[in-house]
Amino acid sequence: MLQKLILHFHFMYLVVLPLYSIAYISDDFKHQQNIQLCRQYFEQWLQENRLSSQETAEKIAYQLPRIAKELMDRGFDLTIYSYKTDSKNGLVFSVVPIWEGERVKPSLPLSLFIYGWPPESWAQHCQSPTLAYSTPIHAHPLMCALTVLRGTVTQELYQPIFDGQQKKAKQIGREVIRPGQLIFDRPDSPIAHRIVCQDEGQLAALTLHAYGASTGAQVQQIFRMTAKDYNYKN
Ligand SMILES: [Fe+2]
Repeated sequence: MLQKLILHFHFMYLVVLPLYSIAYISDDFKHQQNIQLCRQYFEQWLQENRLSSQETAEKIAYQLPRIAKELMDRGFDLTIYSYKTDSKNGLVFSVVPIWEGERVKPSLPLSLFIYGWPPESWAQHCQSPTLAYSTPIHAHPLMCALTVLRGTVTQELYQPIFDGQQKKAKQIGREVIRPGQLIFDRPDSPIAHRIVCQDEGQLAALTLHAYGASTGAQVQQIFRMTAKDYNYKN
């Protein structure tokens, strides 16, 4: 369940980071208004789009840029979110759940999150020790989509290399993702990626993510249980 005390976690880092800490949200009242706005938005969306649960989840994920724009047009307040400053781990990207598919009937295999990203150069300047300002190189055990809400993020693309016991991957591409663009990955795509903010702007980059499970807790559990098989070293 979405709670007043927002859980901060990055699913890929659960094995090495503390499980929970508090995300940077400057105004909890506005955050609750954002959550309410999402609830109303998807109630209406689902009344107008009657498909199977799986088709609906995929359609929402594919339409994430348009949905993000419509949410902001209705007053979704981005200004309250940022990355996290952690005394132990330095600058860390934050993960804030904003909508879960278990809230609707029938439930949908889909959960949405806002991510707040510190610029890489700032994180390195702060000597963030765990590199948790970016994701690890990872593939996806479940459907994953993201769009940029503010600033830019960089997607590095990797090809996994099967090297004995080691889970390695070599970089094969790099692209800057801007507001309105979509990254969509089906489960078990042959390509892995790493997301990092290299924007030197004044504010944290913000992204909206959709994952193919009906609660944040399920998403967390799936990534935790599959990290060994889905994370790679460069
Ligand atoms: Fe990813």
